[in-house]
Amino acid sequence: MKLSSNILNFGFFAAGAAQVALADNGGGVGRIPFSKHYGKNAEEALQNVPLERAAGNKNEGMVDITNQNVYYSANIYLGTPGQELSVILDTGSSDLWVPQSGGFHCPRSSEEVAKGNGSTIASQLSSVARAEGGPSPSFTTTLIGPSLAARDEQPDCQSVTGNFDPSSSSSFKKNNTVDGFSIQYGDYSYANGYWATDDLSVGDIAVKNMTVAVADDTNSSVAVFGISYRGLESSIYSGNLQDPHEYENFPYLLKDQGIVKRNAYSLYLNSPSASDGSILFGGVDHDKYSGNLYTLPILETNGDSDPWERFVVTVQGVGIKGSQEQTTLTTTPFVGLLDSGTTAVYLPEPVAQMIANAYNGFFDDDPEVQAYIIPCPSDDEKLVFNFGGFNIETSLDNYISGSSDGQCLLNIIPTDGYMGILGDFFLRDAYVIYDMDNNEISLAQAKFDSSENIEAITGPIPGATRAPGYSQIFSGPEPFQTGGNIF
Ligand SMILES: *[C@@H]1O[C@H](CO)[C@@H](O)[C@H](O)[C@H]1NC(C)=O
Ligand SMILES: *[C@@H]1O[C@H](CO)[C@@H](O)[C@H](O)[C@H]1NC(C)=O
Ligand SMILES: *[C@@H]1O[C@H](CO)[C@@H](O)[C@H](O)[C@H]1NC(C)=O
Ligand SMILES: *[C@@H]1O[C@H](CO)[C@@H](O)[C@H](O)[C@H]1NC(C)=O
Repeated sequence: MKLSSNILNFGFFAAGAAQVALADNGGGVGRIPFSKHYGKNAEEALQNVPLERAAGNKNEGMVDITNQNVYYSANIYLGTPGQELSVILDTGSSDLWVPQSGGFHCPRSSEEVAKGNGSTIASQLSSVARAEGGPSPSFTTTLIGPSLAARDEQPDCQSVTGNFDPSSSSSFKKNNTVDGFSIQYGDYSYANGYWATDDLSVGDIAVKNMTVAVADDTNSSVAVFGISYRGLESSIYSGNLQDPHEYENFPYLLKDQGIVKRNAYSLYLNSPSASDGSILFGGVDHDKYSGNLYTLPILETNGDSDPWERFVVTVQGVGIKGSQEQTTLTTTPFVGLLDSGTTAVYLPEPVAQMIANAYNGFFDDDPEVQAYIIPCPSDDEKLVFNFGGFNIETSLDNYISGSSDGQCLLNIIPTDGYMGILGDFFLRDAYVIYDMDNNEISLAQAKFDSSENIEAITGPIPGATRAPGYSQIFSGPEPFQTGGNIF
């Protein structure tokens, strides 16, 4: 059985549509539609369609929050003629890699581990952001985006996302880099291979000479399409490289090849009940947000000449809002990573505790639970994040993962330190534009509307203005204080 056919069954991508649409990418805007999947790992998520399982719901029975991850899959056509593969879209990594036919295998021998010698991105991050014990053994894994954590033995050693056969592509060219491709994930799954270029089409976008890593030795059965900064490419980030260098990855290549004018893309996750969303490269859809679109600086996370590598911004406060009242909990700043590869929201422990307290909740230390429990809230409660003069209101329902006897599990995970991750539960209610040319994020309240009003980005983000608190960037940890006013 070709497992990749399961992915096609989601009905979202008409086979061959990308080929037809190649010529027209709508005047400087390219779109990649994706399907959303939830599950405890990528294979499970891609093979089932259990959308409702991770969607915040108050059905009786607590959901095991550590086992829920979100994945966005898109179909790509690589080579000439295009070979169809399904990939996990990832704003937390920067390479496209695909398994070569015959390169995926199940065994887990230590000999094989020794072959993979890429750095573990997660281990480098874990010093800045570390989950406080308990509920998230896969925390550092989810930080690198597609959490490939804790997967069971594959029965048949077949990649769930399809394999690539370079010898069947007339446009395929192997690079002769001194270093091979090597990546290792937080769960020690690995992919080793070599660099190449080939033609790629995805959504209504077609590029030539796209750098792709071909893994001829991997035990990760899921191909990944990273669209973050060049600074996170494994050709520069991996350990033990003789010739560390950056290359033009997908978002940069789109600009080089004139497909977009600016290296900026908009992420729209769509309503929690929708099974699809989209990324617009080089464009903004004004019908997908309400109110103002505000711009914030992306924080520098690296001291070297290319200091931007992650989509992190300053969160300037948190509050709660119901139908009657609104209360500011804190205005102590902290760092928020806008990470589409993480499902839940991770907040510095004092902030998470303030939220639980505000709802008369508590942290349940029971090893089976290890999470905040609150009396089940009413439907119109909002958890509000302030980014310096403007707020994004997120539905508290997003964070509720099950209930029992009127007690609800609040899926907000406390972390040490001052770094939070604003994952899917936050992003569902936000429209986010990642502007890699200007190292800025533009944010607005998402609007779930099927109409479209797309404008190409040719200069500053159309319709966006600087947030009033644009220049108040996070400048170091301060003790978390209650009070202030974000409303
Ligand atoms: C991949 O191999 C490594 C090293 O042997 C092992 O730790 C990891 O669990 C394996 N992952 C899978 C999915 O088999
Ligand atoms: C792709 O690479 C080939 C040489 O390998 C070159 O001739 C061609 O101009 C390149 N195309 C683009 C669009 O960069
Ligand atoms: C892996 O890389 C480290 C340095 O980063 C090196 O010391 C070690 O020998 C390498 N291991 C293998 C198996 O290549
Ligand atoms: C692979 O080759 C292409 C074309 O020469 C080049 O642009 C790209 O940087 C190379 N990729 C890597 C990872 O070195």
